[in-house]
Amino acid sequence: MQLIVLGSAAGGGYPQWNCRCAVCALAWQGDPRVKRRTQSSIAVSVDGEHWALINCAPEILSQIQSRPALQPQQGRRHTPVASILLTNADIDHVAGLLSLREGQAFTLKATPAIHEVLRANPVFDVLAEGVVERQPVRLDTPFELVAGVTAEIFAVPGKIALYLEAGEIAARGEVATALEGEQTVGVEIRDGISRLLFIPGCARMTEPLAARIAGADAVLFDGTVWQDDEMICAGVGSKTGARMGHMAMSGPAGSIAAFAGLDVGRKIYVHINNTNPVLIDGSPERLAAEAAGWEIAEDGMEIAPRGTPAGAPMEIAS
Ligand code: MLT
Ligand code: MN
Ligand code: ZN
Repeated sequence: MQLIVLGSAAGGGYPQWNCRCAVCALAWQGDPRVKRRTQSSIAVSVDGEHWALINCAPEILSQIQSRPALQPQQGRRHTPVASILLTNADIDHVAGLLSLREGQAFTLKATPAIHEVLRANPVFDVLAEGVVERQPVRLDTPFELVAGVTAEIFAVPGKIALYLEAGEIAARGEVATALEGEQTVGVEIRDGISRLLFIPGCARMTEPLAARIAGADAVLFDGTVWQDDEMICAGVGSKTGARMGHMAMSGPAGSIAAFAGLDVGRKIYVHINNTNPVLIDGSPERLAAEAAGWEIAEDGMEIAPRGTPAGAPMEIAS
């Protein structure tokens, strides 16, 4: 299996267009300790010819432009992108679909609830019916993600997309931030040799989730914030990580602690918010995450698990 991190940043990307928080300021200044990052998406393939994307970021065009494997290979119109699976309906995960509207066939896979969000918004009808197949996939039920790759999605604690919150507040008076259902899912991917998990959004660790994570060859996990009140401390917002449906890395309820007892081959943070100091090479937070066995994903990072033709166990070639 080949896995490419197309975009390693959370919603907004890094640096975010309108942000001069301490971490974004470094990127605007060209500081060598930081690298720019596009929004959250990965690509997966076994044969190198047929690829699945998991999530479709607003930067999908530049992501394809910088990845030869994802570029048209034959004839006048072609794409190696055979399918796209969504883990939620957040803008950073679905907005790129609007750039894939040129009558090109692919299969769009998501839970019925996520499909419903897209259906309710006619702008997504640019993905023409009869050309783009919208395929519902069920929780905890294996399906073919792309040739040679079996996937299974599972509920993880999370919330509905930010742009749906007003409707939820009107209906229920508040937004549930750790819902477990079809609105936020993680993905388990297997090729018969290795087992990888991709969980770009997760509000908290649960026992069933920990059981699923244990023993995985690699887990790409929600790295939105280092600490829960990070955006408040950075002076750029009033929301905590928890309010946004994301568990922090640090602290007793954080992901570093939650993973400490789990046997995972590689632990890689993805979906990293622009305020997160782990983006800075050599920062105390980066060093603490690395000391706990975590890697910080960057755009273009390639993860080659066991059993790929190279035969190398979980090598990086970025
Ligand atoms: C999130 O992951 O919390 C969302 O991407 C936030 C957003 O939609 O901006
Ligand atoms: Mn997001
Ligand atoms: Zn920022």
